[in-house]
Amino acid sequence: MTRSLDFGAAFYPEHWPESEWPRDIALMRAAGVTVARLGEFAWSTLEPDEGRYDFAWLDRALDLLAAAGIVSVLGTPTAAPPAWLTQRYPDTLATVDAQGHRDAHGARCHYCVNSPLYHEKSAAIAGAMAEHFGKRPDVIGWQIDNEYNRVCYCATCRAKFQSFVQARFGDLATVNRRWATAYWSQTYQSWDQIAPPAHAVSNPGLVLAWREFVTESYRLFQHEQVTAIRAHVAPEVWITHNFMKWFDAFDHYEMSAELDLASWDWYEPSGWTDRIPSGAMHDLVRGYKRRNFWLMETQPGHVNWSRTNIDLQPGQARAWAWHAIGHGADAVLYWQWRMALNGQEQMHGSLVDQAGEPRPFYAEAQAVGGELAQAREALAGTRVQARVAVLYDFPSRWLIDNQRHHGDFDYVEHLLRAYRALAGRNFTVDVISPDVDLAGYGVVIAPALALFTPERVARLTQFAQHGHLVLGPRTGSRDSAAALWPERPPAGLHALAGCEVEEYIALAEPVRIEGDVSGQADVWAERLKVRAPEAQVLARYSAGNAWLAGQPAIVRRDTTGGSVTTLGGQFDTPTLEIALAPLLALAGIAPVLETPPGVEALRRVGEEGQDVVIVINHTATPQTIPAPAGRVDELTGAATTGALTLGAFGVAVLSAA
Ligand code: GLA
Repeated sequence: MTRSLDFGAAFYPEHWPESEWPRDIALMRAAGVTVARLGEFAWSTLEPDEGRYDFAWLDRALDLLAAAGIVSVLGTPTAAPPAWLTQRYPDTLATVDAQGHRDAHGARCHYCVNSPLYHEKSAAIAGAMAEHFGKRPDVIGWQIDNEYNRVCYCATCRAKFQSFVQARFGDLATVNRRWATAYWSQTYQSWDQIAPPAHAVSNPGLVLAWREFVTESYRLFQHEQVTAIRAHVAPEVWITHNFMKWFDAFDHYEMSAELDLASWDWYEPSGWTDRIPSGAMHDLVRGYKRRNFWLMETQPGHVNWSRTNIDLQPGQARAWAWHAIGHGADAVLYWQWRMALNGQEQMHGSLVDQAGEPRPFYAEAQAVGGELAQAREALAGTRVQARVAVLYDFPSRWLIDNQRHHGDFDYVEHLLRAYRALAGRNFTVDVISPDVDLAGYGVVIAPALALFTPERVARLTQFAQHGHLVLGPRTGSRDSAAALWPERPPAGLHALAGCEVEEYIALAEPVRIEGDVSGQADVWAERLKVRAPEAQVLARYSAGNAWLAGQPAIVRRDTTGGSVTTLGGQFDTPTLEIALAPLLALAGIAPVLETPPGVEALRRVGEEGQDVVIVINHTATPQTIPAPAGRVDELTGAATTGALTLGAFGVAVLSAA
């Protein structure tokens, strides 16, 4: 049977004497744990010296877990190279900045992602682990490394970057032309003159190529371990990596291509007060592979790495877990089960403490574990189905961050405005790459999609023949080498959009817009010029900024079966709600449920079309909503009647009765 709603924690038996393990595992069982994640930092225990492996302890831990009915996910330990490795091979240590400072041993992720020797050692430990543990039926999946994050600037990386640029552009004349290097005498005469970006603002072409190179570096590093593992495991055993929140050093879609499953680590160091950014992050991770994902790590109360590490509120763990599941998580794992007695993370939250006793959070986790067990069958094989997509693009984010123009123009914040206008009202949203098939969507929103390629233009043009396309500001200005398109944005789409951008303005003060859509823009505004007589101006800027007063702010042009709406400003969420409402209606897209703002309603749909609606009260105050008719709550067994009351952080998981 397909597994459904796994529940567990990161477990580090190597931190504790074996005599402690049975008690930990008994507590796991009592909490409803179905999966443990092990091994991802245990290199010095798994390979105490070069080529001498010790896997017996991990076998014994896995055996105990399996005997308790708990399956395991094994991590390759390459985020934590051992002392013998970095001492013997200092070139494997990363150079942490463009000024050439080398990292020191003593933390983690201190490796050079391009070091041939590090590749060799990493593939060797991954392969040896897979050969040894790969046939165990209780090991259901593998995680490569842990939260890739270090960018290296050593001589090896620099030389590989030069080769990467050469392979990408072919000859120096092309590089010089596409990066416009005559500007500031940046002209390159030989490949070895090309260096990683080293300045606050570097040539955008160089910045884009560097990020693509970092992506390619991690992709190759990951590929070697994936290959080493695949050689030894059954086809149904999956391989993943645990990505971080809004991390942007590489393109996560590209990194996910070879993985079977996307997963991520969700933390809120200052407490959790807003479901919109976390919902968008879940949706983005679901978008990496366009299927359900795992929440590989999450917060058991508090973390330890922020200035002030605020706890979740009592009861919030329940809303937190169901929020992830409602957005498509098939597993929720806490980090970590029990903290080590020493080491950098002594102060982190966990389920069990240094004495082996359950901490107060344990009871919350146990309640979540119980609920997941109750709903496991109803949610098996279900997934999220959206007819609205928001396009999230790593290169566009890199380019905008390199030249924000207004310091407050934040790519993620900007995207969240549109996302909030939808998810805040319980519309189901996909957050996906602009390079995937858009068939099936009724509305597609491209916020700040700066980078346009001919393929993207063709895909958006095709979509707009039958769907409703919304172009946000800063869209369609750059090509694949980060150069400005030598025409006004949205380049290649003027005819379709019926307008173009004639000027962009960093706003000192917000400006009002009036028309069919009234509201407000802040931080950024573009003065649109109508190009097609049939295009409608839906809003104009009011007085307030002299360059903008009276000029078009929102333009819509209808196509045969769809439309293109060009948004000139960074609008606030209420304005976007007004702008999007008619498009959602035309596309026949309805929210899952209408609820008060503190209540979220999410839907997962099974292969036979049966759906499960998850309703979450994100507030500490009880909330009552009209109950959807003909449903039964999987958590209580109660059939829905006229009203549904949810207690503080309460949840209902509603199947068809
Ligand atoms: C990250 C890491 C974990 C742990 C947690 C602590 O997500 O992957 O190993 O350090 O942070 O919050």
